[in-house]
Amino acid sequence: QELDLQLEMLEKGGYDHFMMKEIYEQPRSIRDCMRGRIYPERGIVQLGGIKEYTEKLKNIDRIIIVACGTSWHAGLVGEYLIEEYARVPVEVEYASEFRYRNPIISEKDLVIAISQSGETADTMAAIELAKEKGATIFGICNVVGASIPRITHAGVYTHAGPEIGVASTKAFTAQVTALTLMAFYIAQQRGTITQGKLIEYLTELNEIPDLIEKALQANDQIKEIAATYKDSNNCLFLGRGSSFPVALEGALKLKEISYIHAEGYPAAEMKHGPIALIDAEMPVVFIATKNSSHEKVVSNIQEVKARGGKVIAIVTEGDTIIKGMAEHVIEIPQTGEAFVPLLATIPLQLLSYHIAVMRGCNVDQPRNLAKSVTVE
Ligand code: G6P
Repeated sequence: QELDLQLEMLEKGGYDHFMMKEIYEQPRSIRDCMRGRIYPERGIVQLGGIKEYTEKLKNIDRIIIVACGTSWHAGLVGEYLIEEYARVPVEVEYASEFRYRNPIISEKDLVIAISQSGETADTMAAIELAKEKGATIFGICNVVGASIPRITHAGVYTHAGPEIGVASTKAFTAQVTALTLMAFYIAQQRGTITQGKLIEYLTELNEIPDLIEKALQANDQIKEIAATYKDSNNCLFLGRGSSFPVALEGALKLKEISYIHAEGYPAAEMKHGPIALIDAEMPVVFIATKNSSHEKVVSNIQEVKARGGKVIAIVTEGDTIIKGMAEHVIEIPQTGEAFVPLLATIPLQLLSYHIAVMRGCNVDQPRNLAKSVTVE
């Protein structure tokens, strides 16, 4: 038994849970995802897995992203990135809805299926349907040689390494990284981005693993915040722009592993519903980094404060405005707007992890959930 315990500790790399080990692996998994694919000083993105389809990419009219769960949230971040840089219209669909509603698909559509396991039944069915209708299908998968990479036309592996924790962490940030690469690749092929901009963005992207390392240093502070809110019954996560899907993912993580009811919302939609829930018992997590919507988020924070809500804000290093308003601020390093989701996700993963551990939950294997869902 002693030996079994030691073996288990070894597998977890000295961490108490696989989830924590995988959270801490993110600087490495993101580096692995980018390896051999970007050349910042020359402004080049290379994706060998989709190279054959380069000509096709110049002629597509639309991109449809299909996925489930956390992978669907990665898809929503991808929508912002692809539309912003490659200027192709993107729709993001739950695979389970897409497959049953007679969707309009043509040969000029590119479908991107995102799946950590590469085995999710609904995502597979969505792929088969789009394929029958003549679309080109790319996969973004983590498990090499899984079913989805075999039924897609081409694809990009995330190379995050095996993910054991049922609630996805490093696979999510690797999916977002792969989508970022794809957005820049498509932009490069379609000529919607200048070489100079590409050099600038790829240089910033290349620094993300080091910045994640820095973001992880907030762990002890986040643990203290977790102790304050561990007995909450509800929690709201708010963000704007590409931080909106980060809010959704933060809420999903918390509900999956701590069983606290949590909702993610676009910050501006708060006034159309969730604001009714806000009282002194309600922690509200804001993704409030310094970017184009900073001022708007500041006014959303004021609205929550005016109703007695407790604000936990994820802010850019050195932000003094929000410090004076929120109960807690968690700083993440400064980066380009496109890469904020990769950094802002880290404190949210840590927050849900610590809350779940403090509540005595089985963080690696939450009740009723499965790592890979092979039935519809
Ligand atoms: C399950 C897992 C989630 C995952 C989802 C989609 O619900 O618990 O973590 O996001 O399936 O899985 P996939 O393997 O397709 O990304």
